[in-house]
Amino acid sequence: MEFKVALIPGDGIGPEIVGEARKVLDRAGEKFGHRFIYKELLMGGASIDVHGVPLTDETLQEAQASDAVLLGAVGGNVGNSRWYDVAPNLRPEAGLLAIRKGLGLFANIRPAYLYQELNEACPLKKEVIGDGFDMVIVRELTGGLYFGKRYTEEVDGVKRAVDTLVYDENEIRRIAVKAFEIAMKRKKNVVSVDKANVLDSSRLWRAVVEEVAKDYPEVTLSHMLVDNCAMQLVMNPGQFDVILTENMFGDILSDEASMITGSIGMLSSASLGAGKLGLYEPSHGSAPDIAGKNLANPIATILSAAMMLRYSFDLDEAADAIEAAVQKVISAGWRTADIMAEGCRQAGTKEMGDLIAAEI
Ligand code: IPM
Ligand code: MG
Repeated sequence: MEFKVALIPGDGIGPEIVGEARKVLDRAGEKFGHRFIYKELLMGGASIDVHGVPLTDETLQEAQASDAVLLGAVGGNVGNSRWYDVAPNLRPEAGLLAIRKGLGLFANIRPAYLYQELNEACPLKKEVIGDGFDMVIVRELTGGLYFGKRYTEEVDGVKRAVDTLVYDENEIRRIAVKAFEIAMKRKKNVVSVDKANVLDSSRLWRAVVEEVAKDYPEVTLSHMLVDNCAMQLVMNPGQFDVILTENMFGDILSDEASMITGSIGMLSSASLGAGKLGLYEPSHGSAPDIAGKNLANPIATILSAAMMLRYSFDLDEAADAIEAAVQKVISAGWRTADIMAEGCRQAGTKEMGDLIAAEI
């Protein structure tokens, strides 16, 4: 089969890691008889440099017209980049928010699991790690504080800034359904995370999630306050299967979850909407400090490409092959600089891509 993939290399290490993911995709396509037709698009700083804005309408339309979007990363050094000397809605990250919203990608799926081989990189004590962990964070992506009304004003000579946190029941219902559907294919356990002891939006969240849960009697649902969840993640990460949460809590908790895997360079993510079109990107950022040095770990992007095959194209066999290839290369002792350990062999970005492609 043939699939149209919008490739958005973006900024920093983005072009390098997307290049390796493309290499691996092509190899998987060759092996399983599929063809990927790429269209390169500009977003973030790369788009600002050419068009003066982080995302143009044309780019959004091109993305919309594709079967899936594969993204590297956007953004630069906030302190010393001309991309940040402008209004917030013109900065690189605004392009990312706009494409998520524009494509209706309300569900952000972020798996966080510990590779046995990378146990040493996990900052938690051995007793805490136990048998390891394997969780998926399902983060609402197009609502809440990120998209509520915001403004800064001056009242009687005092500056104040306002951000609003809004959720309606439909927004909560559709993300809850995604989380339960995912749980059905896993250990059938959902922990819904909120701040219902303080926030109205959280109380509605809890009520709607309870309602949705009735349609999934096999799934165990529990609720956890976000501050407790932050603590539980480092105290007993093995307890989690699917974590369901709103936009900002999910942003914060997914960084925490990725850090306890020891390697943010390994974690993929998928942003999904109502249909098959999805946007796939590593959970990490653009790492401008190591850009262009063949040092970046391309595995998160390669695993994101595997998620794309699975969720947008239904090519489970090819997705499995990519994931197995990554596992083989790790088991063989190959590491990029970020996960390098004693007794292992170091590979650059390109070499890691080559090694993984060769295992497919
Ligand atoms: C993420 C990032 C983005 C977010 C930023 C870059 C706007 O932190 O994907 O987690 O907060 O969603
Ligand atoms: Mg984040």
